[in-house]
Amino acid sequence: MKKTKIAGAVAVIVAAVAAGMLWQNGDSAADDVADNQTLASQPPESSEADAVARGRYIAIAGDCVACHTAPGSKEPFSGGYAISTPFGGIFASNITPDTQTGIGNWTERDFYRAVRHGKGKEGENLYPAMPYNAYVKVSDRDMHDLWLYMRSVKPVHNPVPATNLGFPYNIRLAMMGWNLLFFKNHGFEPDATQSAEWNRGAYLVDALEHCGACHTPKNSLGGDRDAYLQGSNLAEWHAPDITSNSYTGIGGWSLDQITQYLKLGSNHVAVASGPMAEAVSNSTQHLTEADLHAIAVYLKLQPD
Ligand code: HEC
Ligand code: HEC
Repeated sequence: MKKTKIAGAVAVIVAAVAAGMLWQNGDSAADDVADNQTLASQPPESSEADAVARGRYIAIAGDCVACHTAPGSKEPFSGGYAISTPFGGIFASNITPDTQTGIGNWTERDFYRAVRHGKGKEGENLYPAMPYNAYVKVSDRDMHDLWLYMRSVKPVHNPVPATNLGFPYNIRLAMMGWNLLFFKNHGFEPDATQSAEWNRGAYLVDALEHCGACHTPKNSLGGDRDAYLQGSNLAEWHAPDITSNSYTGIGGWSLDQITQYLKLGSNHVAVASGPMAEAVSNSTQHLTEADLHAIAVYLKLQPD
């Protein structure tokens, strides 16, 4: 019985690999806009100050620090935090410019492939605990600014324990099957029928802020179910429905009340706790008023 199961799993993986190779070559050229400079090879230049500042804002909006910093650590981005998933703990990497334990030897192109396409330096598949599923929509410009910012971060020597999940999740190749099923490999497409503000909100929610990573319910393999932002159970928390449904969602909240919640972590009816309190303190509270308003506009016009 066990053998049949394993053979079955292997067959699925092999089929997925074959299909995945065909499919993945299709759309991955997007990362070729980046070059082959490594992160540690060039110190940031003063002429880049504006881009670095923009990149810092991108890193905050993407909340990279939340997963890539161990609890209690004073070294941002130095990795070592184990993200709990239904399949086991997955350690987030050291993404500082350290050449031995971080990504100092990575080229800009490697970086884009990891963030937008979930590929490690050697082309291995990253686990989707890294939300490349959302970051695939991050624009080239934001990626480049983010890269320049990462270059300015202090290199930290900190080896991160290897992730060791049970079979078949320990096979990184199996993630190709996951990608085939659940990874939507295309960039952000603005909706011309909506306002520029709505589109900015859509970009923030879907690409950088990856709100759906917590708020869109998942199937048993961790892929998104077809119930966008309608609420999902996390390990010990429930991320509620944030569509404009008046009963289950936040349809009763005004634009100001949504903005206030994301800025201050509380409003007339709700106080953010747990993972949402972290998302507010690491990320949303630092967004500009205009960006928070755009998110609110987008959520308000979200069909339930
Ligand atoms: C929700 C948690 C989470 C967030 C948010 C997150 N990451 Fe990750 N990231 C991970 C995990 C987990 C891994 C390791 C995946 C693996 O081992 O397969 C990873 C891996 C990576 C890698 C590959 C490193 C290596 O050595 O292979 C890079 C680069 C990276 N992340 C950059 C970023 C950047 C930049 C951001 C912000 C835009 C970000 N990550 C946000 C969880 C996260
Ligand atoms: C790391 C997971 C996570 C991410 C990312 C996340 N949320 Fe949440 N969110 C939660 C959890 C969990 C709660 C419930 C918090 C509580 O019970 O206090 C919540 C609560 C909320 C609420 C309050 C809903 C209510 O009815 O009380 C809103 C609004 C919200 N999130 C919006 C967002 C938006 C917008 C984003 C993206 C900018 C986002 N969240 C990203 C986990 C997350």
